[in-house]
Amino acid sequence: MDYLILVDSVSPVPKDFAPQLEEVGTVKMEKTAAEHCREMLRAAESDEVVIKVLSAYRTPEYQQQLWNRSVAEYMCSGETPSAAEKLTARYLAKPMHSEHHTGLACDLCSPDWDDTQDDFYATEQGRWLCVNAWKYGFILRYPRMKEHITGIAYEPWHYRYVGREHAEVIRREGLTLEEYLYYYK
Ligand code: DAL
Ligand code: ZN
Repeated sequence: MDYLILVDSVSPVPKDFAPQLEEVGTVKMEKTAAEHCREMLRAAESDEVVIKVLSAYRTPEYQQQLWNRSVAEYMCSGETPSAAEKLTARYLAKPMHSEHHTGLACDLCSPDWDDTQDDFYATEQGRWLCVNAWKYGFILRYPRMKEHITGIAYEPWHYRYVGREHAEVIRREGLTLEEYLYYYK
């Protein structure tokens, strides 16, 4: 398994990509990512911070449903079809282009939420993850002010497993996965 795999708007997940999945609460993640995610959640809990995993592994069919629903919602609020697609693409990858298909990504939130939170960075869960996620091999994949590099708006809830050695450098140097792969490594 290549834990540095880049999946974005120009790099789809390979067609034969079939991660070995394991459960993390009610969702599934790639085996090693799952093991470290469970370890991270236990560590947070021992610091009295309860973190909920909202979403992790997704099939392309499910990503398509999320995409269609978001486009429909924007159109219901008066956007044209092309504007609705553009607005959707700020926060959602197209099917086959989401790193959720790899099983290496998870969306995290506070236990009393059932959706992503724009202010997640300011919650105790968001703050704990900012400080500690790298120790378990996870990076904040879509940071603030890096939208022009990642192609995705700031998502304080989306964490991506890359392994501890890489996560430590990426966090310390304030890089995106793209910058780490293209310039640093
Ligand atoms: N929200 C991220 C970009 C995804 O849909 O994969
Ligand atoms: Zn996500």
